[in-house]
Order: sequence, then C-alpha cells, then structure tokens
Amino acid sequence: MSEEKTHGSGAATVDVPSENTVEVTFLPEGKTVTFEHGKLPYKYHGKEESLLDVALNFGIRLDHACGGNCACTTCHVWVKEGADLISEMEDDEADKLDMAADLKLNSRLGCQTVIKKPGKLVVEIPAWNRNYISEEH
Ligand code: FES
Repeated sequence: MSEEKTHGSGAATVDVPSENTVEVTFLPEGKTVTFEHGKLPYKYHGKEESLLDVALNFGIRLDHACGGNCACTTCHVWVKEGADLISEMEDDEADKLDMAADLKLNSRLGCQTVIKKPGKLVVEIPAWNRNYISEEH
C-alpha cells in the first residue's frame, strides 16, 4: 500500500505512522511520498526499491537515460538526509559518478541507491535536472 502527500500546498496529507514506513521527500519540489518498506511495486528500472524506483512509483520525473543500468549519470541525486538508510555505494556506481556534474560528497545514482531500512530520507534532484520534474498521474 502506498500513500503520498504534498508539503506546502494544503493538499491532502495522510500520515500512516508505522515502524516499517519509508518517507522520501524530493527537493526542490518538496514532494513527500510514503510507502511500506519492502512492499513497493517494482517499476523495472534500476534496482528494486531504489530512489529511481520510488520516483517512478509516485510520478516524480527523475531522468534515467540508460534505464537504470548504471551506465549514465542522468539519475544523479544528492541524499541530504537518511544516508544511514541506504545501500553502500558499489565500485561501478562510484566510477560512473566520477563523470557526473555537480558532484558532492552526498551524490548518488538514483537507480543504484537502494533503501535498506524504513525511515525518512530527503533527496535533492540537481538544478540541471529540475526542469524535468513533473507529476505524472
Ligand atoms: S539511470 Fe543511468 S545510471 Fe541511473
């Protein structure tokens, strides 16, 4: 089961507190989505329950030119909160990220970054990709 809410718009806000709930806020839009850890339907791009998978499940446009195969850098994001909840970076991801623009210490590839535990994350989509952000319902 998945639920979503939007900050700042006064739109319906549904909180489902649970020990197993994952909450991800995507910046700069400030859209927060929640779902039960381990229960997200797989969208066939990137690793299961990756940040890209979450974005695709909730209609958040996160570019993924290679289809989530760790072969580009278009899914580059900055993980601003919740670094303790996600998978360690593997060598192939680190190699690709070396080629990314605006590389920071908290840079990750959305398709390779898997949510391992319930909790709250804040993820920012870099400025050069912000024009692509849209809701697709
Ligand atoms: S979509 Fe290409 S590396 Fe993530």
